[in-house]
Amino acid sequence: MSKLSPGATFLSQKLKSTTQAIPAFHVVLGSGFKDSIVDGGLPDSFRVCGELDFKEVPGLHSSTAPGHTGKYVFVEHQKSGRAGILQVGRLHGYEGLDPREVVQTVMISRELGVKDYFLTNAAGGMDPAHRVGDVMVIADQINLTGRNPLYGPNPSKPDGTEWGPRFQDLTLLFDARIRESLRGMLEGQALRVHEGVYMGVQGPAFETPAEIRFFQRVGCHAVGMSTVWETVALKHSGARVCGISLISNLAAGMALGADGKPEELDHFAILDACKASSRAILRAILLTVESLPAH
Ligand code: HPA
Repeated sequence: MSKLSPGATFLSQKLKSTTQAIPAFHVVLGSGFKDSIVDGGLPDSFRVCGELDFKEVPGLHSSTAPGHTGKYVFVEHQKSGRAGILQVGRLHGYEGLDPREVVQTVMISRELGVKDYFLTNAAGGMDPAHRVGDVMVIADQINLTGRNPLYGPNPSKPDGTEWGPRFQDLTLLFDARIRESLRGMLEGQALRVHEGVYMGVQGPAFETPAEIRFFQRVGCHAVGMSTVWETVALKHSGARVCGISLISNLAAGMALGADGKPEELDHFAILDACKASSRAILRAILLTVESLPAH
């Protein structure tokens, strides 16, 4: 019997009381995706089996960000019995947390053997082709936060074995095969789908137009304040990782008002813009999960 951290032990007990199957996948629903489950994002082929608030899990921080409640919702594919975790809300560096604290929400399910991770976020579009409500499948990322979840002693499991190598390769960070099927499913939901590079910043201030021009020049297409730490920690642990950005706004300086002046960004207007697309994205993710061969 391998040892589990207190958080993973608690999650495991809670899962056992609601569903028999060990979860196969974990979807992180970032800001703007809060209502995607209740508002029809869950295909009929899935059912909700229970939920668990971050506050109840030993050692896990609860979220302070507006638009993020912080809980796990347990779901099951009715026909195959394949189980999964939908994480509603996440933790962020801008809340004052360390990268290791932030990635804990996904690493405790990883301890239980979850293999496939779908990380969603709301992001500012920097590609002139982006419109609000579009989706960008993340092909690669730049971690501009200056921090990394693998910093310090090499992350290890509670039994002392290291999760992965000291110098983790990130050449193939985002799983190409899942990305391909996800793309098709997103298009099937009538979304406008792009692929591109995600720029991860710490926030919480939005960017200046000069920063956005800089990010464009270094080859980025969308910018946001999350995801880049979770991807690195999960890859290091051997998980399969997929990233999906909902373009919730055009990045600073890119949207012009009727007077021809740049429009300012408003967090709550951004969350509002996400509603319809967030449901369609969650549906596409779950249909992708349904189509994946069991392993
Ligand atoms: N910048 C940074 N983070 C974001 C943005 C943005 O424009 N939109 C949503 N999250």
